Amino acid sequence: TYVVTDACIKCKYTDCVEVCPVDCFYEGDNMLVINPSECIDCGVCEPECPAEAIIPDTEPGLEKWLELNTKYSAEWPNLTTKKDAPADADEFKDVEDKFEKFFS
Ligand code: SF4
Ligand code: F3S
Repeated sequence: TYVVTDACIKCKYTDCVEVCPVDCFYEGDNMLVINPSECIDCGVCEPECPAEAIIPDTEPGLEKWLELNTKYSAEWPNLTTKKDAPADADEFKDVEDKFEKFFS
């Protein structure tokens, strides 16, 4: 599966949702997540994200993000149509380690 990682937090460009063939993105206040049990591993969303937030979970160290994508995709609403990014999205694009902003 692919997972959305912290680079999405406060950016939420939503280009990813337009290309997913199985519509498996779910929207929270500050980021999107993928439902790992719905993702068919096609990889087409990965290059679409301007923040490079989408990564295959075969990369090392992604356990935390796999867990977070699994948990919140079960709670958050599905998003299938691109919407405007937050006005300050570009300010957060190159910020590292945004996890502490996940709930703010
Ligand atoms: Fe959707 Fe494919 Fe991305 Fe999985 S890898 S979230 S199926 S676009
Ligand atoms: Fe987030 Fe990138 Fe999609 S910033 S909303 S994963 S296009």
